[in-house]
Amino acid sequence: MRERVIIKWGGGLITEKDKMKTVRTDILDSLANQLEACVTQGMDVVLVHGAGSFGHLKARKYRLAEGRQTRDSVPPNMTQDEAVEAVRNDMQELNQYVIDALTKYDVSAVSLPPHLWARNTGPNFEGDLTMFEGAPRGIVVVTHGDVVDCDMPEEFGILSGDDLVYRLATELSGVQRLVFAMGGVEGILSEPPNGVNDASKLIETMRIKDGYEGEHMSEIDVTGGIGLKVERGFQTAAHGVAVHLVSGEIEMRVRDACLGHEVRGTTLLP
Ligand code: IPE
Repeated sequence: MRERVIIKWGGGLITEKDKMKTVRTDILDSLANQLEACVTQGMDVVLVHGAGSFGHLKARKYRLAEGRQTRDSVPPNMTQDEAVEAVRNDMQELNQYVIDALTKYDVSAVSLPPHLWARNTGPNFEGDLTMFEGAPRGIVVVTHGDVVDCDMPEEFGILSGDDLVYRLATELSGVQRLVFAMGGVEGILSEPPNGVNDASKLIETMRIKDGYEGEHMSEIDVTGGIGLKVERGFQTAAHGVAVHLVSGEIEMRVRDACLGHEVRGTTLLP
């Protein structure tokens, strides 16, 4: 059976997280180049990307992760329904940047935006993954965090890319590993980085019993931040899939992690 890898490009890596809708083109290029190397080596790749400043800022302002709110509890400039549409469009825009980068490196890709096929949020969201399973060889299927329809009373909510990778990594056939490409860090740190006299150290291997309280920038982030990645990562590792968190900003680390080579970063052990 061919090897399959699930890759998540974090939104904080591919965008400037606090600058409304700003992509990091050089990073996208490097990541696309690394992904191409994996496809050339014969791997099947499913790519999930986050939202960064194309999703979190507006979603937070209009409280989309909390579902339907009363009209006067969100800013008057837009209704929540308009905000749902706006964030979906912004995510399509970011997705187009991702596809363009892949195309530049001759990677053939198709996008499956979750609002078209998924419902409800969290790791048990509803959605048929057979379209991912059945992609022809060499075609990279791409999906991303999105605003999805939900059952009443929420009506809508935010489905994180971290929930998507969990289901993809544990339900598709032949998945060897899940790789999270991160921005600003080389993996999971013992403490949040603080710049001066930084005492935070890279944790190279982590077990669930080690316990971990991730910092969650809830003023920006409407999904779970680093804590959600670690939680879904451990759930994935429990299914026998190798889980690595590596820097998406340093050389060929994402490529090497995807190919199963030893690389600096954090490995989650079951
Ligand atoms: C969030 O997706 C989706 C929206 C806010 C619309 P993720 O949770 O996967 O995004 P990042 O990686 O944190 O940016």
